[in-house]
Amino acid sequence: METKSKSSFTGSIGFVLAAAGSAVGVGNIWRFPYLAARDGGGLFILVYIVLVVTFGFTLLATDIAIGRKTGKSAIDAFESVNKKWSIVGKLAFIVPAIIITYYTVIGGWILKYFVDYISGAAAQTAQDGYFTGFITSQVSPIVYMLIFLAITAFVVYAGVDKGIERFSTIIMPGLILMVIGIAVFSVTLSHTDADGVTRTGMQGLAVYLIPDFTGVTFTKFLNILLDAMNQLFFSLSVSMGIMITYGSYVKKDVDLNKSISQIEIFDTIVALLAGAMIIPAVYVFMGKEGMTSGPSLMFISLPKVFMSMGSIGTVVGVVFFVMVAFAALTSCVSIMETLVAGVMSKTGADRKKVSLAITVIAAAASVVICLGYNVFYFELTLPNGAVAQLLDVADYISNSFLMPVITILTGIFIGWVVKPQWIIDEMQLNGEKFGRKNMYIVMIKYVVPVIMTVLFLQATGILNIILNVIINIIG
Ligand code: ALA
Repeated sequence: METKSKSSFTGSIGFVLAAAGSAVGVGNIWRFPYLAARDGGGLFILVYIVLVVTFGFTLLATDIAIGRKTGKSAIDAFESVNKKWSIVGKLAFIVPAIIITYYTVIGGWILKYFVDYISGAAAQTAQDGYFTGFITSQVSPIVYMLIFLAITAFVVYAGVDKGIERFSTIIMPGLILMVIGIAVFSVTLSHTDADGVTRTGMQGLAVYLIPDFTGVTFTKFLNILLDAMNQLFFSLSVSMGIMITYGSYVKKDVDLNKSISQIEIFDTIVALLAGAMIIPAVYVFMGKEGMTSGPSLMFISLPKVFMSMGSIGTVVGVVFFVMVAFAALTSCVSIMETLVAGVMSKTGADRKKVSLAITVIAAAASVVICLGYNVFYFELTLPNGAVAQLLDVADYISNSFLMPVITILTGIFIGWVVKPQWIIDEMQLNGEKFGRKNMYIVMIKYVVPVIMTVLFLQATGILNIILNVIINIIG
């Protein structure tokens, strides 16, 4: 059953801030810095920026224009254009359904650290084994996850303009100020360690920004490209139904070209600043070795860095975890909104009932993810070589498997079935200039489907099998 949704953002600024709120999240502040540190610093940044202005723009424009043009949330949008392609909408609904189960868990971890920092327990967080001890405990991660989920649900329950837009309009300007403040602080740091070696934040910034090509082979480059591409989707909230849903709340007189560029710039600047905030600080206090800690960068390395700063470190830690919590909340709100909008349109039930039902289901699923570190603990080697627990498996299925598939199908659908002009018309609805029009056509028809297929084969390990077979045949 379908209901005509009357919800909308009040105008262009509300939309941009809500969409930027969705885009800026754990992906920017947690994932981007550790990927940049691991994948050659400036090299990763270079690849990422090229991808943002090409792939990122193409997919963001596609999702938002599909949403506004059809006026439907992700699950119905494709079907409303062509029944045969309804599968893409269904897949785009499944992705946030998976992501919410672990996003709330990570949100809970962030809340826990925030509580530790304001309650005077900051020193504990810097101790060896603290993070592992916390996530492997049975009750605490569940409690924090439930609090994070409850705040998210509260905003979604309040609706699009009174909840999501209002919340994002208050949070996002504050967030950007906090990121800039900590980044400036971070590059002005300097520390002399026990061996008498002095490292400065500016040196750390150079390590972060200057491309490092040492040991870069073709396979390594493909992996960097894959990391950057997955990061891009996750960070811009594209190919997961979110931007289609938010696009459906945009009024017809809003200039999509301008809004999309603003969202792109906002998201990328926060990611770059997050790196400038974290990497120099880690470099100053832990050297280059500290930077390769991967996902544990934020929860294990950073608390040690804050500790080394002395009493000011606690203040910086409080501001940092408040900021990450806000960023994570506005993103989780968009993830839940996509699910709520989809279920509302399929069932005709009202927002309040659906929000409650989704919250209960998400809570149950997130508990299972929390228990992935104790009751349901296992170690699974993924096709990309990473050793995974439940949370990583969920992340892998949504980010490395489903999102590439959705992107390939979207590229074929828009590029070859409905044709790019369909999107171009929406981008130029009020006579605006669609600046990257020609690039858009080439990207959506050819580049997106081809490159995404290669990356999908790489992410699933199939590309390696094919390459090995070819090498064997050639001898
Ligand atoms: N776009 C959101 C993030 O970066 C999901 O965390």
